[in-house]
Amino acid sequence: MSKKVALITGGTRGIGKAIASKFASEGYHLVLNFMRKKKDAEQTKAELEEKYGVQVLIVKANVGEIEQIRHLFAETKATFGRLDVFINNAASGVQRPLMEIEEHHWDWTQNINAKAYLFAAQEAARLMEENNGGAIVALSSLGSIRALPNYVVVGVSKASVEAITRYLAVELAPKGIVVNAVSGGAVDTDALKHFPNREELLETAKKRNPAGRIVEPEDMAEAVYFLCTPAASMIRGQTIIVDGGLSLLAE
Ligand SMILES: NC(=O)c1ccc[n+]([C@@H]2O[C@H](COP(=O)([O-])OP(=O)(O)OC[C@H]3O[C@@H](n4cnc5c(N)ncnc54)[C@H](OP(=O)(O)O)[C@@H]3O)[C@@H](O)[C@H]2O)c1
Repeated sequence: MSKKVALITGGTRGIGKAIASKFASEGYHLVLNFMRKKKDAEQTKAELEEKYGVQVLIVKANVGEIEQIRHLFAETKATFGRLDVFINNAASGVQRPLMEIEEHHWDWTQNINAKAYLFAAQEAARLMEENNGGAIVALSSLGSIRALPNYVVVGVSKASVEAITRYLAVELAPKGIVVNAVSGGAVDTDALKHFPNREELLETAKKRNPAGRIVEPEDMAEAVYFLCTPAASMIRGQTIIVDGGLSLLAE
């Protein structure tokens, strides 16, 4: 099999789907992981296969469980025999004020957002080194460096994502693997339905953005794809913020 292969966790809807579409449009075969929404997964598979003529494998796995991560990568190897790109996109999390956070909220969020990234990157690296390297990109968000309402556990998990990115960039470099992260402001996906202040967030993101519009999933996907191209090979361990400049404003 000569075509390159990209694996995207949570790749069947939202930003993950936009990333999947971008890689498919560039001729990559895809492994798209999902957890619950099988119909979305089947629909995305059919849509991308028909539009781009690539092969799409969908794999159900809860990335919060290490055994299921191993299963995801084993399926990738069994189907395609190679991996060139790994995008750590799936995320979940409990949106509560700090004083209402309980231990299981912390564990759930960290396991899916941060622990999964480290252990999936190990599996990705094992497959990529058989092929002399590849690229890894993780999705982060501005709550990693800002104190957003109700966002403490997710924000801390994303800070972990950015720190893991730096360690991976250094420790996987000898295997020819380039690692970076892409962060962004509010993007109107299903994820925002869990935000109590969704309307206000979207309104601010639209009205105050120096770029004059809200960030679209495709804006995130373009940055992710760029970081996986040879043109970006000397960018390592960085978190690129795709927000139209919104987070630069003082208030
Ligand atoms: N939306 C934003 O404003 C925004 C801004 C900056 C960064 N980001 C980041 O971009 C990424 C994608 O966000 P999104 O808005 O597209 O999210 P979303 O619409 O909520 O989609 C989340 C995706 O992750 C999958 N997922 C959730 N938990 C999982 C688990 N335990 N195992 C495997 N898959 C799981 C879901 O699968 P199912 O379909 O099966 O449920 C779904 O495909 C996230 O890392 C997010 O933090 C988002």
